[in-house]
Amino acid sequence: MRTKACIFDLDGVIVDTARYHYLAWKRLTGDLGIRFTEKDNEHLKGVSRMASLDIILEIGGKKLSTSEKEELAALKNKWYLEYISTMTPREILPGTLELIDDLRSQNIKIALGSASRNTPLILERLKLKDYFDAVADGNSVHKAKPDPEVFLKAAEMLGVEADRCVVFEDAYAGVEAALNAGMICIGIGENDILKDAHMVIKGLYEMDLDKLIDLEKQLGNE
Ligand code: BG6
Ligand code: MG
Repeated sequence: MRTKACIFDLDGVIVDTARYHYLAWKRLTGDLGIRFTEKDNEHLKGVSRMASLDIILEIGGKKLSTSEKEELAALKNKWYLEYISTMTPREILPGTLELIDDLRSQNIKIALGSASRNTPLILERLKLKDYFDAVADGNSVHKAKPDPEVFLKAAEMLGVEADRCVVFEDAYAGVEAALNAGMICIGIGENDILKDAHMVIKGLYEMDLDKLIDLEKQLGNE
């Protein structure tokens, strides 16, 4: 196969933490008196904690000092951690483990590429650490998606060229990051939001080796 590595986003791809991020931001915006909708939340997906807060404050037309912002970001994270504290491997989204096993059987390397600084904790809770050959996350990468840094870093850690990597992403910013890295991107979610991706599916349970081979062929023929 042409694909040598698959890089998975975490929140919203492997586990439904995107929901918990939304709930924690919703609680914070409620306290701040800022109107915040699920549609606004789409702009936050894949975006770092502080950059997300900046977007929210912009929506609410509020200007705060750095220390006030740090306090709010810490509060949001405290609530988020409460939501994920009871998470178990049963919350790994359908199809994830099967797909990773199939990819591995073809000697395709597996990496994680997430903006989240909570990545180590989540992988631990989900007992997923051993599934990844490399992890690039918000602790090791500083430029937020749509910058390609997180995916390029993952590819570098694996020793695989960017154009041999396939990224799975649920965020608009994440799809752009993958494309900016020169990688194939499979969007997880709604076609109208992720239309720039090379292919969009509802969840990893819809993906298998045959579909990946078909996509490679289709892109090779373009
Ligand atoms: C991304 C999420 O994966 O991680 C964003 O899509 C989140 O919603 C970002 O803001 C940073 O996460 P954390 O866990 O470091 O606050
Ligand atoms: Mg995501």
